[in-house]
Amino acid sequence: MDKDPRELLDRTAAHAAEFLAGLATRPVSPGADLGRLRETLGRSLPEDGVDDVRVIDELVRDTADGLLGSAGGRFFGWVIGGGVPAALAADWLTATWDQNAAMYACGPAVAVIEEVTGEWLKELLGLPGEASFGFTTGAQAAHLTALAAARHKLLADRGWDVERRGLAGAPVVRVLTSGRQHASVERAVRLLGLGTDQLRSVGSGADGRIDLAALERELAATDAPTVVCLQAGEINTGLFDPFGEACALAAARGAWVHVDGAFGLWANVGARHRHLLDGVDRADSWTADGHKWLNVPFDSGFVFVRHPSAHRDALSTRASYLVHAADTASGTGVTPARDQLDWNPEWSRRARAVPVYAAVRALGRRGIAEMVDRCVDHARRLVAGIGELPGVEVLARPVINQGLVRFLAADGDHDAHTDRVIDRVQRDGVAWFGGTTWNGMRAMRISAVNWRTDAHAVDLAIGAVARSLTADPLTAVTDHANLGVHRRSAASRPGKP
Ligand SMILES: Cc1ncc(COP(=O)(O)O)c(C=O)c1O
Repeated sequence: MDKDPRELLDRTAAHAAEFLAGLATRPVSPGADLGRLRETLGRSLPEDGVDDVRVIDELVRDTADGLLGSAGGRFFGWVIGGGVPAALAADWLTATWDQNAAMYACGPAVAVIEEVTGEWLKELLGLPGEASFGFTTGAQAAHLTALAAARHKLLADRGWDVERRGLAGAPVVRVLTSGRQHASVERAVRLLGLGTDQLRSVGSGADGRIDLAALERELAATDAPTVVCLQAGEINTGLFDPFGEACALAAARGAWVHVDGAFGLWANVGARHRHLLDGVDRADSWTADGHKWLNVPFDSGFVFVRHPSAHRDALSTRASYLVHAADTASGTGVTPARDQLDWNPEWSRRARAVPVYAAVRALGRRGIAEMVDRCVDHARRLVAGIGELPGVEVLARPVINQGLVRFLAADGDHDAHTDRVIDRVQRDGVAWFGGTTWNGMRAMRISAVNWRTDAHAVDLAIGAVARSLTADPLTAVTDHANLGVHRRSAASRPGKP
């Protein structure tokens, strides 16, 4: 007989609440190193089961020092975001309900939630109402889906059925970019068999945005089927390509425009930054993430395609043991339910629209716009504050939530010094920034997308960078009581027993 799970779930909720409360004061970087984690977690395979409560208690205990504080407000590394409370709670329910969100028949309520949420997202993100959508694991799988639809349509327009005939002997599909595309675009090109040799950079202008004259020349050079990939929020600087102009050039040549808006598309929700996305609705496909700026827990990406038939023809599948809503509704006069497996590259899957539905309801359009604006303000203040410190050069002031700085060394080896300072900041533990290479220089990336970040977190982060400019974290200022954050002690420093 089933044991009442209430005690276990209550206990787990208490653990979760304690973790969340601790985000305000715990070090952002993990204290345990690889060796210690393997030692703690690497038990031999249990022959007999262990009591549930013990499993959970020990899971919490054994991971405590090995978690990155990226869910907290002092994390400014990769574009990660946290989970707003309603989304986190809805994510718990998603696991509890354990619906297979492959199709309506497997979970009617969650299929309708995805249908409703997809429509909301198009409205929020300023995308055409006729676009189809899919909920994917992230932007990576969203690119894959969008480019599969592009491949389908571009080749079908040339009389080639790629799903049946494959790519051998097919017209070669080119993919044009500014050269600043995210690596996930390249991987989608690889996985779809288009080949990275066909990924061509037309280059960018002095402003970092795609070079329109070069794009026009490339488009005119051949009639080959072509995808143009644009950025809504470049990974280092947050730059936006000129969508209206690029889409007009592409449309004149029958090219497909795909927009990587993993985080930047969220700037279209509020009035303050919408001008950066002028013309973005003229593209053919778009990618965005829920687990970035919407602050929904991980496993939350979105793809939108202007041409639903290309999207469905590239992705949908049929099996005799399934109950396909579109087939069963035919002839009934009722709009068929939406089967999720027609729009994404998965079969069985988590009902990942549920936390998105909850986040959008809890925040509303206004709340999302305010969250975006707030993060932009935090990013600007971080870059300005860090930029005022001695020996700091600002490489990119935020257009939205991303900025770049580097640290200048007396010996002229700025790259090594920049990496050294980033390492000190991470070991200091009060805040977390990561590194990147930008225009041939090592730089520190500053990214603000977490709903928990506030002015105090920004002050603490600027202070952490100031300390790390000159001093090793263990020999730095020792009076941290007024920081309100527990800095890492020597005993918990990574690499120390
Ligand atoms: C601009 C951009 N595109 C694509 C991706 C890949 O997204 P995901 O990790 O959701 O697959 C990211 C971030 O990881 C990104 O910042």
